[in-house]
Amino acid sequence: MDFQHRYVLITGASGGIGTALALALAQEGANLLLHGRSETRLPDLAARCLQNGASSVKTCSADLSEQGDRMKLVNFIHREFSAFDTLINNAGISRFELFEQQSAEMIEQLITTNITAPILLTRALMPLLMENRERAPRILNIGSAFGAIGFPGYTTYCASKGALRLFSEALARELSDTPLKVQYLAPRATRTSINSTRAQAMLEATGSQSDTPERVAQAALAQLRSGKSQSAIGWPERLLVRLNGLRPELISAVLRKQLSKIKPLANTESTGAES
Ligand SMILES: NC(=O)c1ccc[n+]([C@@H]2O[C@H](COP(=O)([O-])OP(=O)(O)OC[C@H]3O[C@@H](n4cnc5c(N)ncnc54)[C@H](OP(=O)(O)O)[C@@H]3O)[C@@H](O)[C@H]2O)c1
Repeated sequence: MDFQHRYVLITGASGGIGTALALALAQEGANLLLHGRSETRLPDLAARCLQNGASSVKTCSADLSEQGDRMKLVNFIHREFSAFDTLINNAGISRFELFEQQSAEMIEQLITTNITAPILLTRALMPLLMENRERAPRILNIGSAFGAIGFPGYTTYCASKGALRLFSEALARELSDTPLKVQYLAPRATRTSINSTRAQAMLEATGSQSDTPERVAQAALAQLRSGKSQSAIGWPERLLVRLNGLRPELISAVLRKQLSKIKPLANTESTGAES
């Protein structure tokens, strides 16, 4: 795939993985539309992308959990980015916290941002992607290893990413007789600010491995090039996902042994901590 002639929207480009994706695609000469919730970090990132070799860069801020803001982004694309051929649904939030302590508002925000928003954005942008069928259009959804393994402290996040995984799989199959390919990438823990101090402490306590956002970006580019519908990052995690599908009770037993390390850190009331 020659990214130089592609028109790519990255949602959540202002975040850790989004920024790495933007810079990697810029280096390949892509035309970029960088999205973030707030406008503040987008102009600097746009300038870096142009320095890195992007053919063109536009920016648009929108809160994707708000319908009006989603439409603002969709209208911007029709107006200013109509050769659009690649949608990367990357924006997302996470919360490491015992389920019983999660507020109804936080649960709703997680579900809206991580699953309702990408589904509705995909629905709104599919007609334009189909119009650009000769450009071999793509949708790449950024999921998580937690979309295939239910992990204590991440109940709602796991639910949202599991839903995104199945949405991607079903839509890829539904569109398999069209030129629009739908793809899903599951990174494991990645060193960005989405992970709170407590989440990072839990990753260390459980001996979990983590990647740089640049590694995730390279995996995303490789997946876009290959056309593969699903892929995951990290060997032990890929094995654990398979094992969880075949023998979930084995993974449950491993996690049960680690619960004494995970639960105190997921307990926001005892640590009185931030998200
Ligand atoms: N880091 C990890 O450990 C990890 C592992 C597996 C999967 N992932 C997934 O990778 C994706 C990127 O995560 P990251 O690690 O790069 O996180 P991050 O650094 O926190 O970036 C998240 C991005 O999403 C945007 N965003 C959040 N809520 C939004 C909303 N309501 N409307 C619009 N934009 C919103 C943020 O915009 P603002 O900056 O403007 O708020 C930011 O650009 C997420 O889907 C995440 O679930 C991350």
